[in-house]
Amino acid sequence: TQEELEQRTHQAKEILGDDLLIMSHHYQKDEVVQFADEIGDSLQLAQVAAKHQGVKYIVFCGVHFMAETADMLTTDEQIVILPDLGAGCFMADMANHKQLTEAWDILQGYFKEELIPLTYINSTAEVKAFVGQKNGVTVTSGNADKIVKWAFTQKERIFFLPDQHLGRNTAVNLGIPLENMAVWNPKTQKLEATGNLSDIQVVLWDGYCSVHQQFNVQQIKYLRQKHPDIQVIVHPECCQEVVAAADQAGSTHKILQVIEQAEPGSTWAIGTDNNLVYRIIQDHPDKNILALNPISCPCLTMNRIRLANLTWILEELVNGQIHNQITVDPKITKDALKPLDKMLELSR
Ligand code: 13P
Ligand code: SF4
Repeated sequence: TQEELEQRTHQAKEILGDDLLIMSHHYQKDEVVQFADEIGDSLQLAQVAAKHQGVKYIVFCGVHFMAETADMLTTDEQIVILPDLGAGCFMADMANHKQLTEAWDILQGYFKEELIPLTYINSTAEVKAFVGQKNGVTVTSGNADKIVKWAFTQKERIFFLPDQHLGRNTAVNLGIPLENMAVWNPKTQKLEATGNLSDIQVVLWDGYCSVHQQFNVQQIKYLRQKHPDIQVIVHPECCQEVVAAADQAGSTHKILQVIEQAEPGSTWAIGTDNNLVYRIIQDHPDKNILALNPISCPCLTMNRIRLANLTWILEELVNGQIHNQITVDPKITKDALKPLDKMLELSR
């Protein structure tokens, strides 16, 4: 039963003591989050990993790129474990090293040296390593404004991958017109631009998050009609039209902060993964909070991690057995750490 699993997990956690750190992303199921020592958005989880250089085992309840990032930011002796190896990220899988090399070569032909690559943290270690070799930086939804602003002090143009929406929304925040943005299609290897090539300031990779694709402007209009005083907050992985129709956009951490500081009795709609939205609703009974899309699918890969996976991993650790360790090749780590370290420095 669920109670038995909870009891066994508590027990294993107690035995492992200071040797263990359980990290969890906000999109994880409640049954897993209840055991987290640290819970956060992608930026906070990277910062936590970089800080915890002593702990022996990090059990990472999140997705593959997050566990890879934690492995790279910790020492060689530390062991990072992903409780279900099937927990990937569809968006991170939309850009690979080969596609990126091809894109970079063609874009260099168009823009010469005046292009800096920025990769969303939702990318593979290999992609981060490529970006590191080109003196680029990693970005999260929690620091995108700051980092993109910095990038424009380095070069005239940015190449943002793999999430076109976070890239576009951040550029719009900085006042860059949409006609100065182009989309790189890795399948056709073509740059889709409406204006002149010389005016392009932002090149966006044609990637997206399938969870955040499920939000649209109609849902916002409908709720505004039903609740004229509603305030809408969405994640910046939503498309630009949705972000423009909302009142605010931000990382999962920002969404939580905004709701925590909201007036009791105020009405809100939240557009992000519903595991998080329903937890926020439960934790704030004094506010009237709605899911922007109550029937949207949660992130299927985040959801692969169940309490049973966590219990198994911890009990095996108690028995000295390590499963599902995530290790990044040291040659990749060497380059991929550059954009990660630079991001952490710029986010301070
Ligand atoms: P943040 O928690 O950093 O906002 O990211 C959301 C997300 O989609 C993680 O994959
Ligand atoms: Fe990837 Fe989207 Fe899931 Fe985040 S919510 S892990 S971006 S698929």
